[in-house]
Amino acid sequence: MQQKLSNPQFLLKKKWAILNVEFKLKMIDLELSTEYKRTVMQKIEHRIKKTDSITRKLIKKGYKTTFENAIGKLNDIVGIRVVCLYSDDVYKIASMLKQQKDFTLIKEKDYIQNPKKSGYQSLHLIMDVPFTYKNETEAQRVEIQIRTVAMDFWAGVDNQICYKKKPEEMKKAEEELKNYSNVISRIDRQMLELRKKVERM
Ligand code: GTP
Ligand code: MG
Repeated sequence: MQQKLSNPQFLLKKKWAILNVEFKLKMIDLELSTEYKRTVMQKIEHRIKKTDSITRKLIKKGYKTTFENAIGKLNDIVGIRVVCLYSDDVYKIASMLKQQKDFTLIKEKDYIQNPKKSGYQSLHLIMDVPFTYKNETEAQRVEIQIRTVAMDFWAGVDNQICYKKKPEEMKKAEEELKNYSNVISRIDRQMLELRKKVERM
């Protein structure tokens, strides 16, 4: 599995998929920021999952650690993250991505409407994007996470201190962090209201 996952041709396709999605995102950003006359996307990040975390995830999900399972069972070997200021922008961006004719929506997970038990908030789109090379087209699976700066801040802190670490003594910290997730959704709503108020002036 390791050899196949680090094969240059395999990685080339993943990098190509990232470029494809990032290009679309930049077009969407340009369109929205022109229309609203303000910044929409704060940052776009990407990563290709490393072999060791692919192995860990397959084991956690109860699959054999084979290359076929890695590409067949995992949706997030390629991950792209979009961070924007306001929660309504999250849905605008998602809707525009879903309108792309050559992208196929596989699954949508709305952890903003329905936060995870941890308090994690984000909108996830699992999509297939085409990779075309020498007359051959192959679908590439990507996970696109769209969230506000505040949600991204929360997820960053959670990632460092709680997520994937589950000893008993973490319970208190987890609870505290979950409360902050509520604080963050309140702030997101207030910031959005403030923007709308100013827009009406
Ligand atoms: P993972 O095994 O965590 O990747 O979950 P999954 O493939 O079953 O899908 P899920 O939608 O739960 O999570 C996808 C991704 O969202 C993860 O890889 C993380 O990047 C992010 N995520 C999900 N839950 C949390 C959380 O509680 N905290 C943080 N910081 N990130 C999370
Ligand atoms: Mg993941």
